Amino acid sequence: MSIIKKLFVKTYGCQMNMYDSDRMIDLLKPLGYQLSDTPENADMIILNTCHIREKAEHKLYSDIGRLEPYKEAKAAKGEYMILAVAGCVAQAEGEEISRRKPVVDMVFGPQSYHKLPEMIAQAHRTLSKNGKPSVLDVDFPTESKFDSLPAPNPDHKGSAFLSVQEGCDKFCTFCVVPYTRGSEFSRPVADILKEAKHLVSIGVKEITLLGQNVTAYHGVGLDDKEWSMGRLLFAMAEVPGLERIRYTTSHPQDMHKELYTAHKDIPHLMPYFHLPVQSGSDKILKAMNRKHTAAEYRDIIYKLREIRPDIALSSDFIVGFPDETDQDFEDTLQLVRDIKYVQAYSFKYSMRPGTPAALIHSQVNEDIKDNRLQILQELLREQQLEFNISMVGKQTTVLLEKEGRHPGQLIGKSPFLQSVYLEAPKRLLGQIVTVEIEGGTQNSLAGKMVTQEHIHYA
Ligand code: SAH
Ligand code: SF4
Ligand code: F3S
Repeated sequence: MSIIKKLFVKTYGCQMNMYDSDRMIDLLKPLGYQLSDTPENADMIILNTCHIREKAEHKLYSDIGRLEPYKEAKAAKGEYMILAVAGCVAQAEGEEISRRKPVVDMVFGPQSYHKLPEMIAQAHRTLSKNGKPSVLDVDFPTESKFDSLPAPNPDHKGSAFLSVQEGCDKFCTFCVVPYTRGSEFSRPVADILKEAKHLVSIGVKEITLLGQNVTAYHGVGLDDKEWSMGRLLFAMAEVPGLERIRYTTSHPQDMHKELYTAHKDIPHLMPYFHLPVQSGSDKILKAMNRKHTAAEYRDIIYKLREIRPDIALSSDFIVGFPDETDQDFEDTLQLVRDIKYVQAYSFKYSMRPGTPAALIHSQVNEDIKDNRLQILQELLREQQLEFNISMVGKQTTVLLEKEGRHPGQLIGKSPFLQSVYLEAPKRLLGQIVTVEIEGGTQNSLAGKMVTQEHIHYA
């Protein structure tokens, strides 16, 4: 019988990192590691990090500081806690991390975590030899990590992520992703369908296909030819028992014809689309190397709305990119007013070492960035509230995902990715039910279950 070991994982950053964390947990299960929700007394801690903005990086170092006492307490009992830093900071900073924080034992990047069992064995070897494990692996290996990962077994059975594409060749001038995740890679369609069918077989009803640039997907298809994202969506639509399909993150430059057709013809492709625009100013878009204009972005949205009038839109924005003037910012506000988003992420520009935008001299002053962010977020909040209130009195389907804080309360997601609170028996977790919406705030909806029935598409 193997000895049970305690594993604590903290995930920062995007959904790709969430997917990777789940896969690391799956990889470590056969080694006897059981997930724990506290770092106390853990045998292994993995911090799966994000490098996208300076704040995310600071958070890592302050978290390491907070974890040190746990490691000391474990050492006082004569036991060793392995502290690993994974993900995008690990990729970007490599051994600098363990130099700066010697309590860190392992550093490995997003493309090498499939080697975790080997790396842990190596850590134990160096531990018994030198009294301190030391492992560094920030390679971009030629083999695909996906070929060595076990079948996924997510804890939340209702909805799951499935990574189909990784990396980025777009090199937006503000962004670290092409450096931390490497160049674009698409998984073969057959592998994706196999993983999707497995997920459905363990009770998953909704799959979100993930990629840093998911619309640039160009994997080997079932006919050995290259398939686009649109084509992959049509293949996903045929997976029996899969009731909801989503995908993220899209790029305006890759909006090909089959994607529009998919939104028109696949009823269970959810009517929600996240299309980051970053800025409404052509001057700034050009300086960001986004390769499209604000008018081209508007055209994509109008075309999507023509095809699927109920489609809900979401986006990412950066305020205070170098050289952004009041007029550039006003162009962003105007684009938001014209499009109307149901949800959005907005950030102050954060200078990232090694990216071209960090070299531009005319950086925007921090107070101006703060002010612009506040104005933009206020507008986005108003739009989100307006959309949520417009749902009151309507019926919608909800995939029940978790228990709420009040007894008898469950929380689920509408097709438009809104959180919906309702009373329902716990046995319905992971199921899709029909709900009448009775109230809406900026962040969520409240409703009552009308029926446990809904239309099955697949
Ligand atoms: N691939 C996606 C986004 C990946 S990063 C795309 O092309 O849109 C997620 C978001 O983080 C970006 O859309 C952007 O809004 C934000 N972001 C990236 N780098 C940033 C930086 N240096 N400062 C502030 N926000 C940044
Ligand atoms: Fe970053 Fe641009 Fe690539 Fe998105 S498309 S990951 S913002 S470089
Ligand atoms: Fe962050 Fe890496 Fe994702 S930098 S946003 S965790 S790809």
